Amino acid sequence: MPGLTAPSDYAREPPRHPALLVNSKEPFNAEPHRSALVSSYVTPVEFFYKRNHGPVPIVDDIHKYCVSISDLVENATELYMKDILELPKYAVTATLQCAGNRRTAMSKTRKVKGVGWDIGAIGNAVWGGAKLADVLEMIGIPKFSRISPLGGKHVEFRNPNSHLALQEENGGPYKASIPLSQATNPEADVLLAYEMNGETLNRDHGYPLRVVVPGVIGARSVKWLDSINILAEECQGFFVQKDYKMFPPSVDWDNIDWSTRRPQMDFPVQSAICSLEEVNCIKPGKVTVKGYAVSGGGRGIERVDVSTDGGQTWIEASKSQKAGTPYVSDDESCDKWAWILFEAEADIPESSEIVAKAVDITGNIQPENVQVIWNLRGILNTSWHRVLVQIAHSNP
Ligand code: MTE
Repeated sequence: MPGLTAPSDYAREPPRHPALLVNSKEPFNAEPHRSALVSSYVTPVEFFYKRNHGPVPIVDDIHKYCVSISDLVENATELYMKDILELPKYAVTATLQCAGNRRTAMSKTRKVKGVGWDIGAIGNAVWGGAKLADVLEMIGIPKFSRISPLGGKHVEFRNPNSHLALQEENGGPYKASIPLSQATNPEADVLLAYEMNGETLNRDHGYPLRVVVPGVIGARSVKWLDSINILAEECQGFFVQKDYKMFPPSVDWDNIDWSTRRPQMDFPVQSAICSLEEVNCIKPGKVTVKGYAVSGGGRGIERVDVSTDGGQTWIEASKSQKAGTPYVSDDESCDKWAWILFEAEADIPESSEIVAKAVDITGNIQPENVQVIWNLRGILNTSWHRVLVQIAHSNP
């Protein structure tokens, strides 16, 4: 598409905050330090994790930039930035989480394939943009459609052709799709976003325009949007058909059949302790345990339990989102697509393991250990999050 190009090397990457922990340099994949995740409800853009599969595209001329909408539509259309800016603007607070969040810990039990992440492949932002449901209505697909007038059932998003840079797609574009029923449902809040936390989207996060699919693994929120295709079948791209699927622990690379599993969409209930490192040396006394909890599909967080004895006894943590508004898991005053931050204070008399687990409003709860959910791609590690504390007794 004129106006936006995907380079085939990493010579023109954007500047990044030096405090980010870099998991892979090219393509650039980085996460903030644990403590940065709980310093604010809305994650500052510079500390928001960056997950790129190839070089970051470049906008040559924003006036020439447009998104094409084609395939099963009566009139193929090209939408320029000014057309998108004319649509009603929405601000949706939504947590984006990579399916590979906490992969490093899963890999410790048995090796998995993929970029290693600690607990920071997640962030919460206020995304500003047009609703995809409004865009589709504008081109003749009514709200709440499961099937379009020409038989489309899926909406595919693509970034520009990346020449030889995206190996998984043999140089083709990064792509993903969501069901038409989700895309045309205004309450699903799927956005074509041009702002993040009130600022113009930056290059790492998809400038000039990206999709944000709230409550769904980050892989479906395609950045640097180039085209939207209305399809009868779901997207056949690598990242939909041959990646980001959840397999049972019995499946390994010698017996995998990708066609047996559906592409992962919603993420399961998740939580992690961010105020402590994996191993900590502290003085005896009170310790504050802070972290995040979130569930996919707009399911609120009902409870976060914290244990200071490896999971034998538990206390309930307090939960918060916005200052001044009490968090009620299914109330309209709360951000249904966003994480909550939790906090608990406990006495730690002796060295022990501190654990957190969350429960969502449907009663889904995190699994106790990572072994039972091990999968060869290392996705969706939502096991209880554990950190060790060792008590440093000072000399008399
Ligand atoms: N879109 C494009 N075009 N290319 C990508 O590499 N990565 C996806 C998604 N959208 C990706 C993409 C993945 S796996 C995730 S988790 C999110 O973007 C990360 O978004 P972020 O970098 O803004 O945090």
